[in-house]
Amino acid sequence: MRLKDKVAVITGAGSGVGRATTLRFLAEGAKVVCADVRQDWLEETVELAGGGQSGSGADDSVIGVRCDVTVEADLERLVDATVDQFGTLDVMHNNAGITGLKAGATTEDYTEAEWRRLWDINVSGVFYGSKYAIRRFKQQGAGGVILNTGSVAGMVGFGSVLYGSTKGAVNQLTKGLAVECAKDDIRVNAICPAAMPLTNFSAADDKKFEPVAQDFVDIVASIHPLGRIITAEDCAAAAVYLASDEAKNITGVLLPIDGGYVAQ
Ligand SMILES: NC(=O)c1ccc[n+]([C@@H]2O[C@H](COP(=O)([O-])OP(=O)(O)OC[C@H]3O[C@@H](n4cnc5c(N)ncnc54)[C@H](O)[C@@H]3O)[C@@H](O)[C@H]2O)c1
Repeated sequence: MRLKDKVAVITGAGSGVGRATTLRFLAEGAKVVCADVRQDWLEETVELAGGGQSGSGADDSVIGVRCDVTVEADLERLVDATVDQFGTLDVMHNNAGITGLKAGATTEDYTEAEWRRLWDINVSGVFYGSKYAIRRFKQQGAGGVILNTGSVAGMVGFGSVLYGSTKGAVNQLTKGLAVECAKDDIRVNAICPAAMPLTNFSAADDKKFEPVAQDFVDIVASIHPLGRIITAEDCAAAAVYLASDEAKNITGVLLPIDGGYVAQ
């Protein structure tokens, strides 16, 4: 119960890291507001977590709120809905994100629309989420936690260059906000995963991820010095620590969840 009674918002909670973190935060005693642009995936997460739409499920510690992180007003509404439901906000996990074009695509393959969409979701979403969380934390006057999902692709040169540039921005927002908000005891950290081949990350907008072949999983695992793939549950475990009071003196940290990838 390392997050007992903490109230957390998790964006991108319909899948992957956001879903795994929702389940783990609830198991650690938190109350969770799941947010996602995909209503169907969001409902699945809330049901898996034992809640029900509109609070009709058995577990009233979890609700779902549809939210598009590219729309600033959605993030304001999300924070308001959290406070309406649970009375406070303690943790904002800005996790929603999308990948770049498929493997092998180069910078000149991107259209302006694809570039803007990447930045809108991956960077503006973190800015809006942070902005309304910080406003609320300051009103409450008791500190708070922002946890962003960056990437190792924002720390080192990586195949997906334009995607990596958005994650470099997330990583920099994390460090800058950590310094700006320290006087209000608002901690800002990022988890930076390496390759997670088992999330929905590479799915098209309108469909679920197709299971990947085992030899692809093996290739991905071999990229990491520890020889294992990174999982959404690995990220959730790190998120529990960074969101908890055990990390009260940890801020501005970009924590690679990467089996040693960036240490090379
Ligand atoms: N999978 C990887 O290899 C990997 C590696 C490093 C970092 N990451 C980062 O981890 C985070 C989570 O990714 P994942 O692997 O769990 O992927 P995922 O696709 O399984 O989950 C991402 C979720 O974000 C949601 N989302 C997309 N656009 C949104 C929007 N506009 N508003 C609200 N929600 C939106 C999706 O519907 C989905 O439920 C992302 O920020 C991603 O960049 C992923």
